[in-house]
Amino acid sequence: AFVVRRRRRINGRWARAGAVLKELEEQCATPSEKVKEVADAMTKEMHAGLESEDGSMLKMLISFVDRLPTGDERGLFYALDLGGTNFRVLRVQLGGKEGRVVNQQCEEVSIPQDLMVGGSDELFDFIASALANFVASEDEDFHLPNGKQRELGFTFSFPVKQTSIASGTLIKWTKGFNVNGTVGKDVVGELTRALQRQGIDMQVTALVNDTVGTLAGGIYDDNDVVAAIILGTGTNAAYVERADAIKKWQGPLPNSGEMVINMEWGNFRSSYLPTTDYDHALDAESLNPGQQIYEKLISGMYLGEIVRRVLLRLAVEAALFGDNVPPQLEVPFVLQTPVMSAMHHDTSADLKVVGAKMQDFLGISNSSFKARKVVVQVCDIVAKRGARLAAAGIIGILKKLGRDRANMKRTVIAMDGGLYEHYTIFRESLLATLKEVLGEEASASVLVIMANDGSGIGASLLAASHSQYLED
Ligand code: GLC
Repeated sequence: AFVVRRRRRINGRWARAGAVLKELEEQCATPSEKVKEVADAMTKEMHAGLESEDGSMLKMLISFVDRLPTGDERGLFYALDLGGTNFRVLRVQLGGKEGRVVNQQCEEVSIPQDLMVGGSDELFDFIASALANFVASEDEDFHLPNGKQRELGFTFSFPVKQTSIASGTLIKWTKGFNVNGTVGKDVVGELTRALQRQGIDMQVTALVNDTVGTLAGGIYDDNDVVAAIILGTGTNAAYVERADAIKKWQGPLPNSGEMVINMEWGNFRSSYLPTTDYDHALDAESLNPGQQIYEKLISGMYLGEIVRRVLLRLAVEAALFGDNVPPQLEVPFVLQTPVMSAMHHDTSADLKVVGAKMQDFLGISNSSFKARKVVVQVCDIVAKRGARLAAAGIIGILKKLGRDRANMKRTVIAMDGGLYEHYTIFRESLLATLKEVLGEEASASVLVIMANDGSGIGASLLAASHSQYLED
């Protein structure tokens, strides 16, 4: 009788786990129809955001980039890229049409967690001091003509209301940042003062979002680039808009007739988005409740955390990992997306990678094979929902540009970000969704290219094309 009762209890657990999974699957479902609805909603919000300042949750920010790199850019330029868990400093020697990128050097520094939620001066001092060290290591491969000041393109990957190509105020922090005293300030001013405190003589000549930098770097390499997407810690898109279509633009129309728009699509939301209680709880407990809803369904900062929340429920309600709930599973953000990805890609017969990761990151030893299979299924549901929703956003942009039809011009999307680069199943699902929803013919003209650190090169190209010495 004991054996029978025990078996019944175990069967009951699996039935409960099955029910939780089934519910997750249903609530996260993104059939073609749903992807199309989300894409249409995105297109509609793009129009609304261009119409007026507060017309939409999509800010559709004017970047002041109205001419993109031509290839003629020359000279030594620096770039600084702040926006993820790391920040990067870069110097490039640009050689014009023939030379292109003659030399480049890059350094990556990880940002201490406490600086991401500390005070503004501390953060900018840290960045400026890393830049000072980097400048000190400049060698003979790089040439700054006598008497010229060094110039820098500042990639700042947060929503900024630009007041010119080289100034703009921070609207809000996103991702893991919540630094005191920066919102409402000119971030170039903040950086410039920190550079002065470090005794570095450098001028910021371009302030760009990472999407805008990636777009500039992308077009430098390929003239058919129409938009840039970031799928990394956060997610966002920028594209080239007709200046006369930007109703809210007060200034004179640029000669080029074009303007790059930073959509800040991470803040998109719609009743069409498939969300769950896990998402609502994640949002409520986040640094920015009610904000960046689309980003919280898609980007690298959040995917692993959604999975953790599902696994926690499975542990509590279905004893997925035994009678006790593993305490580490209750810690927010312990399960990071690279770990989720490693588990999701486990092809070994006994899912030993899943077992090892659960041991290392969640303190769960001796997980059963059945439990490991459930973990992989959860990763699959969460990753594919994110990938398909990201594809929906891209289709929304293509629609806005009239590039969602058969027989069109070659249409290139420049992509950057670790999520897209490293999470193979995510990437493949995104690409397959574009094909599925656009159809064979239209999708044949659409190309997604990886623009690795395009945003750093892009920022230095924009620093060059907006250099104070241009008239020389
Ligand atoms: C967040 C930021 C946005 C950035 C994106 C990708 O969504 O708000 O500015 O482009 O992350 O880094």
